[in-house]
Amino acid sequence: MQKILKLGKKHGRNFSPQRRSQRLQIDGSIFRKQQDTPWDAGKSQPGLRTLLDSKELDLPATGKALVPGCGTGYDAIVLGTTLGYEVLGLDISATAIEKARRRVLVSLSSYRVLLMSRHSLLQSAALEDPSLAPKVQFQDVDFFDLNPSDDSDKFDLVYDYTFFVAIPPSRRPSWGTQMNELVKQNGHLITLISPMIPYTDVGPPFYVRPEHYPPVLGDGWEKVVDREPENSSENHVVRQRLVVWRKL
Ligand SMILES: C[S@@+](CC[C@H](N)C(=O)[O-])C[C@H]1O[C@@H](n2cnc3c(N)ncnc32)[C@H](O)[C@@H]1O
Repeated sequence: MQKILKLGKKHGRNFSPQRRSQRLQIDGSIFRKQQDTPWDAGKSQPGLRTLLDSKELDLPATGKALVPGCGTGYDAIVLGTTLGYEVLGLDISATAIEKARRRVLVSLSSYRVLLMSRHSLLQSAALEDPSLAPKVQFQDVDFFDLNPSDDSDKFDLVYDYTFFVAIPPSRRPSWGTQMNELVKQNGHLITLISPMIPYTDVGPPFYVRPEHYPPVLGDGWEKVVDREPENSSENHVVRQRLVVWRKL
């Protein structure tokens, strides 16, 4: 997974003046400076857990998932423990990533205890094999700097919860370009669209509606789920929409 982190700066890629000014805009964003993580729901999203438990998505048995703007990591950990995928959580907030790294250590040890309680003592010895544990990594990296060189760098699943709505609307076309770059053919993009608050021209969060996604994603996607999540977080009820896209 380390291989996918090809950052422009590290690899000497030259940024155009426009790209440089976008970077400055992001570097100066409230998120980068954030010493706290007030958006943190304190738990994973029930809508994501229900979707994964339902097994309605045609997902491969093994694979890689990406969570851009992962915050303190709740949902990335759920993806790792539920699907057993390699998961990469990214955030430009170093504070959030530090918290996510601490959280994953605690969560993975409870996951091991859970697995051990479900297995015989003999089988539990196999849990020492690190390949059996979900591999969840967190990196303090800008989503727009990911630069996959070939298909093996791409993801079977990308999950966006309150990331699209956190970036300035002028960057949404770049979000769409990146998703097209990063999701494998037949891979899935889960968008848990929130908060669907009344119109505002200030943010984050910026104004968002489900119809803002197709223009930036383009034609090469099939919508496979589109509904209000059965069980939103208490304070998000009727303000979320779950839309899942399959890359054609
Ligand atoms: C509203 S928060 C949501 C965090 C997380 N999804 C959650 O629900 O707790 C948006 C997150 O996106 C991160 N972010 C903003 N721009 C980013 C970028 N270009 N690359 C990676 N993360 C970014 C922010 O630092 C912040 O943690």
